[in-house]
Amino acid sequence: MSGNDGHSACIFIRAAKEDDVEKMYRLEQMCFDIEAFSTHQLQYLINTKTAFSYVAEAEGDFAGFIIGLTNRNRFGKYGRVYTLDVDDRFRRMGIATTLMDALMESLRRAGCTSCFLEVKMDNSKAIPLYEKMGFRRSRIVPNYYSSGVHALKMKKPL
Ligand SMILES: CC(C)(COP(=O)(O)OP(=O)(O)OC[C@H]1O[C@@H](n2cnc3c(N)ncnc32)[C@H](O)[C@@H]1OP(=O)(O)O)[C@@H](O)C(=O)NCCC(=O)NCCS
Repeated sequence: MSGNDGHSACIFIRAAKEDDVEKMYRLEQMCFDIEAFSTHQLQYLINTKTAFSYVAEAEGDFAGFIIGLTNRNRFGKYGRVYTLDVDDRFRRMGIATTLMDALMESLRRAGCTSCFLEVKMDNSKAIPLYEKMGFRRSRIVPNYYSSGVHALKMKKPL
């Protein structure tokens, strides 16, 4: 899988594999610090049958990744964005958009009719990205993060 319409020369999207876990972990720490997933959690997630995990490579470098999961409630099947990380050397090149597109397509194909995510209320980079991708603000979840920051829950029909 590949492609983007951003400003970068070449972005390649592929499924994540065990060998990626160390790089994923380093990027998680860079992006989320104390709230980063551990290597164990990342390993578990990429091997989970109900998860989709994609890596973005730019100019041959590990540039970012996304993990999403499918789940089911009384209304049917839905998806959830678990984590999305782009290395700051490769930001604003359309990589997050390309990773999100890949995940949304996989969730749709898996039969999900909507997708949810939680984002820190003060995340001024990710919230505009999600809104641009058609996510709408759903509700605020107080003290969702260990730091005490509230989460904004967002939803998009697929
Ligand atoms: C948020 C993040 C994933 C965006 O990645 P990216 O590859 O730079 O995003 P894209 O290039 O696809 O940007 C798409 C849109 O998102 C918004 N956006 C991205 N970065 C932004 C910034 N610094 N300020 C404002 N809007 C921003 C813009 O609307 C942008 O469209 P534009 O470039 O045409 O204006 C990246 O900054 C990141 O990894 N941040 C740390 C981890 C994080 O917060 N993850 C999300 C957790 S819920």
